[in-house]
Amino acid sequence: MAVETACDGACWAAPSATVVRPGHRHRFARLEREPLGALLECLEGTCDDAYAGSGARGLLARVGHLDGSLADALAQGAYLALAHAVTRKPEEVIEAVQRAGLSGRGGAHFVTAQKWRLAAANAGPRLLVVNAEEGEPGVFKDRHLLEGDPHRLIEGVLLAAHAAGIAHAVIYINGQARNARSAVDLAVEQARDAGLLDGSALGGAGVEIEVRSGAGGYVCGEESVILNSIEGERPVPRTKPPFATDRGLFERPTVINNTETLCVATTIFDDPPPPTKLIPLSGAVPRAGLYEVPVDGVTAWSGVLAAAGANPQRVRALLLGGPSGRFVLPEEFDAPLDMRGLGAGGVVVLPLDADIPRITRALAAYNARESCGECTPCREGTPRLVALLEDAPANRERINALIEVMTEASLCQLGGLAGKPVASALALFPQDFEREASR
Ligand SMILES: Cc1cc2nc3c(=O)[nH]c(=O)nc-3n(C[C@H](O)[C@H](O)[C@H](O)COP(=O)(O)O)c2cc1C
Ligand code: SF4
Repeated sequence: MAVETACDGACWAAPSATVVRPGHRHRFARLEREPLGALLECLEGTCDDAYAGSGARGLLARVGHLDGSLADALAQGAYLALAHAVTRKPEEVIEAVQRAGLSGRGGAHFVTAQKWRLAAANAGPRLLVVNAEEGEPGVFKDRHLLEGDPHRLIEGVLLAAHAAGIAHAVIYINGQARNARSAVDLAVEQARDAGLLDGSALGGAGVEIEVRSGAGGYVCGEESVILNSIEGERPVPRTKPPFATDRGLFERPTVINNTETLCVATTIFDDPPPPTKLIPLSGAVPRAGLYEVPVDGVTAWSGVLAAAGANPQRVRALLLGGPSGRFVLPEEFDAPLDMRGLGAGGVVVLPLDADIPRITRALAAYNARESCGECTPCREGTPRLVALLEDAPANRERINALIEVMTEASLCQLGGLAGKPVASALALFPQDFEREASR
């Protein structure tokens, strides 16, 4: 039987096909370019290659290996964590989340157990908003989860709902991510029909799930913008406090969690829970795609680059976190990865001849374009930063002063972090800017 599946994270291998027989899983990559003889042999059952596992574990274990039915998801282990969670008291589930050390994968790494506790301490009804906006350039991890294993997200939603006493959840998906939207719509319908949402299948109080499409733009991933967008207000950030866990969507206590965060929540009962982070990797690498990387105190960027077929000696730097991020030099490649330092996880590999001043200006210009204009430091500061970068060495002091104001006074972290890649580039590559200015 042939089944069309979502991308399994090996974006570099597309178009690919995987032949699956009991005890045998063999992936054939880049079908457009490679001869098909070996694939035909494998289909005929005459392939004598040793068993080749998908290599995926944790969050990506089912991504790219599901046929889209609930039955297949269940057969591959979906909803087992939920079945276990609903036999425990809500506070016990929150304790398990805390023990697993789960932190928000949307980028800020806020402690998830604390967020759920803060909402649960307020009187109901409580709400959950799933942040599946993912507008940041170079980040495509949530989209893989939504398209490739939507039942894992729904399981995470139901688990959070049980733990924090949530009655209603809204999944807010990037408006351009049409495949993700249709995969999630179908999975929600399947879960509802199977009695998973109202608690009749596995137990639990039951939760209604609604799916919404995002309004468009990087700032629409900021959590309070999502609340305004769902309420039909202008998509701009709210002042905080009040925090969403006290007064969020429609003034109700609201948990806002990233898609990956809720997917990781389904692994908290694993022994031990995998301390992994999804890393969307692109740029100058032979095997660009989505990697699930252990953040275990051992794994370093050098290991990630090796997995992607990159020679670290041919890499000038990594851009980590895109327009809100920083550059990572080869000197740091052997240091163990630190979860909080990974942000949302987007990494662009820059080759030896990368034009750092041009890249820096492009990042600054992106922030200026995406600024929603609601607050002065960002509305005025982001285009000013672009202008000052025309001659960065001469404007160095003014750039530093402007970044300080934007960092301290912006209403949200789009403006608050807009200076970060600029400051990082100027600190790490001063000669590049000097050279350009002297031309
Ligand atoms: C400009 C901007 C864009 C953001 N985009 C996203 C996004 O696309 N997805 C996301 O989960 N968080 C995004 N965030 C972070 C969210 O505001 C919020 O911290 C996150 O959804 C909380 O979920 P977590 O605790 O599970 O990480 C963004 C923040 C800012 C300032
Ligand atoms: S920092 Fe920028 S994006 Fe955020 S509210 Fe202010 S103008 Fe809008």
